[in-house]
Amino acid sequence: MGVTAAPLGMLAELTHRCPLHCPYCSNPLELVTRESELSTEEWLSVLAQARELGVLQVHFSGGEPLARSDLATLVAKAAELGCYASIVTSGLGLTERRLAELVDNGLAHVQLSVQAAEPVLANEIAGTKAHQHKLTAAELVHGFELPLSVNAVLHRANHHQLAGIIELAERMRADRLELANTQYYGWALRNRDALMPTREQLAEAEPIVRAAVERLRDRMQIVYVLSDYYEPYPKPCMSGWGAQQLTVAPDGTVLPCPAATAITTLTLENVRDRPLADIWYFSESFNAYRGEDWMKGPCRTCERRSKDFGGCRCQAFLLTGDAAATDPVCTRSPDRGLVDVILEAGQGETPPFVMRGKR
Ligand code: SF4
Ligand code: FES
Repeated sequence: MGVTAAPLGMLAELTHRCPLHCPYCSNPLELVTRESELSTEEWLSVLAQARELGVLQVHFSGGEPLARSDLATLVAKAAELGCYASIVTSGLGLTERRLAELVDNGLAHVQLSVQAAEPVLANEIAGTKAHQHKLTAAELVHGFELPLSVNAVLHRANHHQLAGIIELAERMRADRLELANTQYYGWALRNRDALMPTREQLAEAEPIVRAAVERLRDRMQIVYVLSDYYEPYPKPCMSGWGAQQLTVAPDGTVLPCPAATAITTLTLENVRDRPLADIWYFSESFNAYRGEDWMKGPCRTCERRSKDFGGCRCQAFLLTGDAAATDPVCTRSPDRGLVDVILEAGQGETPPFVMRGKR
């Protein structure tokens, strides 16, 4: 195994509390309760440890990071340490006063989610009246001259509004637009059949995205995340396990990727018990799939392994029960049939969504 480099970024999941009920939520089925969340003091220590370890970018997310009343204190600490501090938000709860305080404390960037192009569908997917808040939030961010990213998770129920979502992001004056086909982790896996886009939808999306990338070249960066079940090769998930990023969950569990709690065979560590640097460099969980030594065939001898790192460990575990298996999305995987069966089944009738937090 090569020398382990320091992480560049940390996803600080401050809370799992969220005002939205999105069916594509990738947070785990079992959410961390408010009582188990790290305290302000504990987060301040995590931030200091992260910077010491080499982290340069801190993304405060959740759930909804604005649900934490100490968000401005944590942003201030990250900025004071010299980190690029960003929030990933639904926009609900982002008032002018709150944003002014965050900006004063060194906030550098806002990522805002949108659910669809028009309000009726957007509110339906969010499970609450959220759409108008997002338009207001985008105006506020623009008013403070902060860079804005808009993120839209794409799925069967909103693919037909793709062109409208791009126009919406233009109206919001986004600097960057992430159009991300749903990845099936956590709650989203539960809704996979309802969320899975059809082949036709994906075929229609491609020229729309291509034309928008060309037309908006000078104004807005567009990133299109593929629907990987339909692809012949897997995504290079996390740019490799334990390679560049770490995630700290609301209760202090340190994760090599945001979905890693799904791998039940993995022993995860907590910043309440062990220093962050120790976990990054020496823990069993971070070293389990680092580099290439853990790979089995066909990845072990495949010429693509340095490009895609064998795909996604969480997806391998969720679909095969073995986190060291080749990602079944790969056409070279002996398990690709599992994905094909799912795709075939998904072309039929669309089941209703099971909304997050609404029973
Ligand atoms: Fe990637 Fe492994 Fe498939 Fe090769 S066999 S393309 S390394 S997932
Ligand atoms: Fe966990 Fe891909 S989502 S490794």
